[in-house]
Amino acid sequence: RGPDSYSPTGQATGMPAEFRAQRGAYLTTAQGLRLPDTDHSLKAGPRGPVLLRDHHLREKITHFDHERIPERVVHARGAAAHGVFRGYGNAAAITKAAFLAKGEETPVFVRFSTVLGSRGSADTVRDTRGFATKFYTSEGVFDLVGNNIPVFFIQDAIKFPDVIHAAKPQPDREIPQAQSAHDTFWDFVSLHTEATHHTLWNMSDRGIPRSFRTMEGFGVHTFRLVNADGGTSLVKFHWKPRMGVHSLVWEEAQLINGIDPDFHRRDLADAIEAGAFPEWEFGVQVFPDTPEQTFEGIDLLDPTKIVPEELAPVQPIGLMTLNANPVNYFAETEQVAFHVGHLVPGIDVTDDPLLAGRLFSYLDTQITRLGGPNFAQLPINRTHAQVNDLLRDGMHQTAVHAGAAPYRPNSLDGGCPFQAGTAAGGYVETPVQVAAAPRVRAAPASFDDHFSQPRMFWLSLSPVEREHVIAAYTFELSKVYEPAIRERVVRVLGGIDPRLSAQVAEGLGLPAQEQPGKPASVSASPALSQMGGTWPIT
Ligand code: HEM
Repeated sequence: RGPDSYSPTGQATGMPAEFRAQRGAYLTTAQGLRLPDTDHSLKAGPRGPVLLRDHHLREKITHFDHERIPERVVHARGAAAHGVFRGYGNAAAITKAAFLAKGEETPVFVRFSTVLGSRGSADTVRDTRGFATKFYTSEGVFDLVGNNIPVFFIQDAIKFPDVIHAAKPQPDREIPQAQSAHDTFWDFVSLHTEATHHTLWNMSDRGIPRSFRTMEGFGVHTFRLVNADGGTSLVKFHWKPRMGVHSLVWEEAQLINGIDPDFHRRDLADAIEAGAFPEWEFGVQVFPDTPEQTFEGIDLLDPTKIVPEELAPVQPIGLMTLNANPVNYFAETEQVAFHVGHLVPGIDVTDDPLLAGRLFSYLDTQITRLGGPNFAQLPINRTHAQVNDLLRDGMHQTAVHAGAAPYRPNSLDGGCPFQAGTAAGGYVETPVQVAAAPRVRAAPASFDDHFSQPRMFWLSLSPVEREHVIAAYTFELSKVYEPAIRERVVRVLGGIDPRLSAQVAEGLGLPAQEQPGKPASVSASPALSQMGGTWPIT
């Protein structure tokens, strides 16, 4: 590795060379003052007291004292890599986003994560995995902040603090929920049965991936794409790993957690360093943008629902290759700031109420986590497009803005070359008709079906995969202290399949629960009911 090579693999990193730091022949202070010695404090005699006037000692220790920043409130533990996305150039019919429509090569930075563990937690725990991609496109940054599970626990972001409080470590003992006490998590998911689908995926082999390289990724929400003629469609985004989807079995996961808690981050970095670059095909499920925003009876604004690929195939529109490891974990993996609101022309959001809360949450939390409003200037977050944003000052401002009039239009800084609003190429939100309706704090009736899709997922599993699910529920619930919570979960499982409920009950030494938590027959989707019926029930 040469002194000037920014990437350990010699690959392009997407990080411009001017951001290299710590070069030069001599050790210096932060002010560039050359230092002959950084190992001894200044003292009054070799055995005398250390002198307060030692500015190098004070600078060195003070800086060290402030090295840590708050970890992410969720997804704190992560590993990342640089790469390139190559659009196939076949998506112009649905989006004008240049990196998809024209098949441009776009640098990317991807961060994989667990959701619940702290920065120092183990990799192979049973959890959802984050799969967040930053595309440095010619038109600005586009972030796809997804997970390896296609649905989410809740349908409305207002419950996000609640589900995370229930799932994070116990407030009194700070003992993680995973592999110890589970009462609050299982209390929450059995009282909010919309969580049943996501929880079932967690209890399946998808909850313990073999490698980041063998995970699927999902945008979860439905997004709206806009083509050059203004035509819109609704889509769900998918990443399909070229290596296929592979999981650990629970015994492996537990052993690895003890032997190598860094298993997933080591696997990713080693593979890239060895030149075995992981690849994912990027695809979309496309649905007509109708006023109802439903497809085959499925509410596309409900993030607890998928659309089966049998009903809407995933159409490949690009390939991502991860080909370079970060050089510095803190500068890149820790300081990267993803946000579902980082959009480019041709990609828009929908009225999914979970997405609405996320659009607020990411910028807000990053102002705390990254120390003020200027983190877009950090090298890993910088767009590769030009910036002319009228934002000024603030903590950690590193730009030197010229000009006297940071507002538009103005008659001082050379007139007004910049047309705000609809200038060609500008981002224009899609006009969408909002229903004339009273203000309500209520979910739509189409969000009521919490069971037909978990049942469909359960029925799609092979016998050995079902055994794993039963074992996972039995193991996790055996850690729940409160009998009423165990019994309630077992009742909810009856809403998926009475046999799943009965086998978990048997494993826990509970009587079979007669009444499922919710009627098992509720289905808002005729298409899904038909599909469920066509799959064999063993
Ligand atoms: C972080 C995904 C829902 C708030 C993340 C990250 C991912 C992610 C992948 C890690 C980003 C990184 O690697 O830096 C998702 C998905 C969701 C979801 C797929 C649902 C479909 C929510 C909701 C909220 C939320 C509903 C709040 C209303 C946060 C926050 C962070 C985060 C605050 C930490 C961000 C940071 O500190 O940089 N999420 N999330 N998420 N998410 Fe979500």
